[in-house]
Amino acid sequence: MRRALAFVLLLGCTATEEQVVTPEQRGEALVDDRGFSDSSFNAFQCTHCHAKVTPPAGRLLPAPPLAGAVKRPTFWNGRFLTLFEAVDYCQQQFMRGAPLDPTSKKALDLYAYLGSIAALGPTTAQPFPVLLEIKDLPRGDAAKGAQVWEAACKSCHGAPHSGTGRLKPPVGDSPVSVVPEETIAFHGADGPDVIRQVVIEKIRHGGFLGFSGRMPPYPTDVLTDAQVADLLTFLGLYDLK
Ligand code: HEC
Ligand code: HEC
Repeated sequence: MRRALAFVLLLGCTATEEQVVTPEQRGEALVDDRGFSDSSFNAFQCTHCHAKVTPPAGRLLPAPPLAGAVKRPTFWNGRFLTLFEAVDYCQQQFMRGAPLDPTSKKALDLYAYLGSIAALGPTTAQPFPVLLEIKDLPRGDAAKGAQVWEAACKSCHGAPHSGTGRLKPPVGDSPVSVVPEETIAFHGADGPDVIRQVVIEKIRHGGFLGFSGRMPPYPTDVLTDAQVADLLTFLGLYDLK
């Protein structure tokens, strides 16, 4: 009986969906949707890297919350002066999208949503302390490293060593890497120190500063050096032969 009623209600909703869903609601759905980018090689959605308002419990996200962004004076550490450039950069650099048309429905819906959460987050320019110089770190705590993996890496990479549950784009042969096996396979001959260096570089610089790809960089106010060392210990990178 209940089910039948729910079904009728559902049908009713579909018929009038366009009238009841506001641009703000469509925009909110878009930040959780990899389809915001028109590239079928993209597996990311905005909320893989940004909280909408407050980060979900137990998550370490590389980028600041979307709430408050429309009121910030500058973006990306002063690199961009408009919100449009900041968003467009993310959706091209990370999400492989074509340049965003500011008059498109998806852009307007996103703006409506960002406007609706303008007062709910930080409105000052957000720091983005990128660690430029990479050096090896002393061994840390594997149990703590497991927690950092859960909080920061699992959402894209799935399980360490196997990649189970990692993100995959609908098309394309370059899913998110299996960590740390792919780095070991590629750099094994160079020895454990180099492998650790590459993993630290990737965490700190993502696809920037001489590295390619679409992984976001982790600033020092999100992940400390001690947490990176814990992560490397959890991944077994101090025990390589
Ligand atoms: C793969 C990770 C990733 C994805 C996906 C991503 N971003 Fe970003 N975004 C970043 C990083 C890293 C920065 C730079 C952080 C900084 O400047 O503090 C950034 C910066 C921004 C900024 C500027 C924030 C500021 O205060 O400087 C905005 C706005 C933004 N992104 C919006 C979006 C939107 C909207 C989407 C989805 C369409 C998106 N981003 C997708 C990682 C990502
Ligand atoms: C937003 C998704 C995302 C998150 C979160 C993420 N990565 Fe990545 N990572 C990628 C992608 C995609 C690649 C493949 C190369 C590229 O495109 O940059 C990658 C590549 C790597 C590589 C290089 C693998 C190789 O082929 O040598 C390492 C190491 C790595 N990630 C470690 C981490 C660690 C550790 C964390 C957590 C601190 C993390 N990643 C968080 C998306 C992510």
